[in-house]
Amino acid sequence: MIEFQNVKKRYESKKQTVEALKGIDLIVEKGDIFGVVGYSGAGKSTLIRLVNLLERPSEGEILVNGKALTSLKPKDLRAEKKKIGMIFQHFNLLNSKTVFDNVAMPLILSGTPVKEIQTRVNELLEFVGLLGKAKNYPEQLSGGQKQRIGIARALATNPSILLCDEATSALDPQTTSAVLQLLKKVNQEYNITILLITHEMSVIREICNKVAVMEGGRIVEQGPVFDVFAKPQTEIAQNFVRTVIHDEIPKSFKSQAAGNPIIWKINFIGANSGKPLLSTVAKQFDVDLNVLSANISEIQETPFGNLIIEVTGEESEIKKAYDYIQAENILVQEVRIHE
Ligand SMILES: Nc1ncnc2c1ncn2[C@@H]1O[C@H](COP(=O)(O)OP(=O)(O)O)[C@@H](O)[C@H]1O
Ligand SMILES: [Mg+2]
Repeated sequence: MIEFQNVKKRYESKKQTVEALKGIDLIVEKGDIFGVVGYSGAGKSTLIRLVNLLERPSEGEILVNGKALTSLKPKDLRAEKKKIGMIFQHFNLLNSKTVFDNVAMPLILSGTPVKEIQTRVNELLEFVGLLGKAKNYPEQLSGGQKQRIGIARALATNPSILLCDEATSALDPQTTSAVLQLLKKVNQEYNITILLITHEMSVIREICNKVAVMEGGRIVEQGPVFDVFAKPQTEIAQNFVRTVIHDEIPKSFKSQAAGNPIIWKINFIGANSGKPLLSTVAKQFDVDLNVLSANISEIQETPFGNLIIEVTGEESEIKKAYDYIQAENILVQEVRIHE
């Protein structure tokens, strides 16, 4: 659906050259809500703006629906770009136009008959829950409402892809959540593939199925959201995951622990609760389990639990218990108290 093939982007000026992207390989598949997370300056906006050619790559190729946009003729490019909608952090609405006209704008520009515009805009305003605001001006709307209008406008030409550049970064947490749920509805009901960028891991957790972590113009880690949350490989991914999932060994335990205790981090996904597992393990094997921390959060509306436990017992029993948990298809990792 969207494929980056070793894409590089340099911004060149007389004074300096900034290498914003240093070789990006990325595949967004149809139906994905693909999230790219990274700190400011990582190259996220550059990456997303390449998809609809708001920026051009310096090297490499970006395929959208199998076509390399840079090699299309202007007419074909216009047709392809209509299939890509975009929303922005600061909404980019026209303040001198009504809500209706803002949403209608892409349709007016593409020469859609007036009657059709009327029907389509009303349908879109209803979809985003703002039919009653058609005659209002953007200034009369809250941030969340403005972004809903941004979404309605982006959907006007029936795109198959929606790009979101920090779409909720200007919103408070509650409004963020509501807008994210609307994006999920866009993905599910209109079957639109979403590529979003954000500096907030909570956004990824809430709606994405896949994630890529960016740092210094590179993707340093990517995969299904569950995998990256359960087992982040790079330090930066670990830091991002830690902002939403608190599974640290408690400080008080660390400071009191003598020697080198055996500590396991166990992750549960879905209804699979931790309790029966621990009691089964304690009964079947001659080990003692001491729960140091237990948390359940949600990823994509699915419970995601993590436990930190201290295990004591004979080495052979501990190994058996470990193998048993692994055989249950539950993610268990040994963690060290001193890194
Ligand atoms: N139009 C531009 N001209 C020059 N440098 C730019 C331009 N846009 C972005 N950059 C630089 O490219 C790097 C990546 O920026 P950006 O893609 O905006 O990152 P992010 O969205 O992750 O904050 C930064 O160093 C930024 O200063
Ligand atoms: Mg940005």
